[in-house]
Amino acid sequence: MRIGLIGTGRIGSFHAGVLARHPEVESLVVADADATRAAGVAGALGAQAAPDVTALLDHALDAVVIASATAAHAELIARAAGAGLPVFCEKPIALDVPGTLAALRAVAEAGTELQLGFMRRFDTGYRAAREAVESGRLGRLHTVRAATSDPEPPPAAYLPLSGGLFRDCLVHDFDIVRWVTGREVVEVYATGSDAGPAMFREAGDVDTAAALLTLDDGTLVTVTGTRCNGAGYDVRLELAGERDQIAVGLDDRTPLTSVEPQGPAAPGKPWQGFLERFAPAYEAELAAFVRLVRGEVPNPCDGPEALAALRIAEACELSRRERRPVRVEEVP
Ligand SMILES: NC(=O)c1ccc[n+]([C@@H]2O[C@H](COP(=O)([O-])OP(=O)(O)OC[C@H]3O[C@@H](n4cnc5c(N)ncnc54)[C@H](O)[C@@H]3O)[C@@H](O)[C@H]2O)c1
Repeated sequence: MRIGLIGTGRIGSFHAGVLARHPEVESLVVADADATRAAGVAGALGAQAAPDVTALLDHALDAVVIASATAAHAELIARAAGAGLPVFCEKPIALDVPGTLAALRAVAEAGTELQLGFMRRFDTGYRAAREAVESGRLGRLHTVRAATSDPEPPPAAYLPLSGGLFRDCLVHDFDIVRWVTGREVVEVYATGSDAGPAMFREAGDVDTAAALLTLDDGTLVTVTGTRCNGAGYDVRLELAGERDQIAVGLDDRTPLTSVEPQGPAAPGKPWQGFLERFAPAYEAELAAFVRLVRGEVPNPCDGPEALAALRIAEACELSRRERRPVRVEEVP
């Protein structure tokens, strides 16, 4: 299989390494707005570098992987789909609903596939949690607690382009809550704090946020997130039902220290970031994409799924700004 990868920054260079090692990928061509960066990544992996996206798409490819900065996703999806190619794209498709719908129209018109990079769907713990809910082992679910805490803020220049904490970061929690519970979010009530580093206030963003989601069966979900968790990278999901409760992301590397005399030992080597914590999930999502391109499996995370997660993020942003509960159906 011949794959073209666009965007060789933090996540794109990681995906390039995964694809270069994949036994089904015979050739890999990479491009980036910064052609020197693309050439460096290609050189390290024995891949080819194209000087720009047009040249990349001239390579008789079988599929395209997009890991560029978010602002370019929708246009690149439309171009790759327009060339009749299946596309894997990092989240989000776009930072607003109209931009997302335009990209989805381009994919539908081309009659091709678009898989989105919600890698938690491929993480062993989240998969086990989904099975536990589906099997009925937890009994009626009443409470879900999701949390994403980054060890340190991203570069200041990233913030104004990121779409804010809900769209950029907690969108992963919104997607995984839907996927694990199999339910839809009907209402959100969200707030945020910009009391940390000044760059968040300057970007009109928050460094810490909390949202209360109500699912369509009445289950209550709290989602919390922060960019300032000095203890490490902490991504967890707790599901409590009438019969049992379980936790995803609770292991000897969880950056959380018990102060109880009989509590578990402090983490020896706390998780430091997403590339380390989710490396196997990133590999598995691209392996699934290769199989999707070969027509062997259904799409594990398509455009409408990403749109549903974005609508929840939009509802949270509206709720935070207007300080009121927001029905997700209010988001156009
Ligand atoms: N799924 C995840 O866990 C995860 C983690 C990190 C980032 N992401 C997403 O991946 C994307 C990239 O994030 P990153 O942290 O790697 O950013 P980054 O800034 O490190 O890299 C982005 C790269 O895209 C290039 N680029 C920008 N516009 C381009 C264009 N029009 N054509 C070609 N190249 C272009 C830049 O030159 C840069 O090299 C973002 O959309 C982000 O939301 C997802």
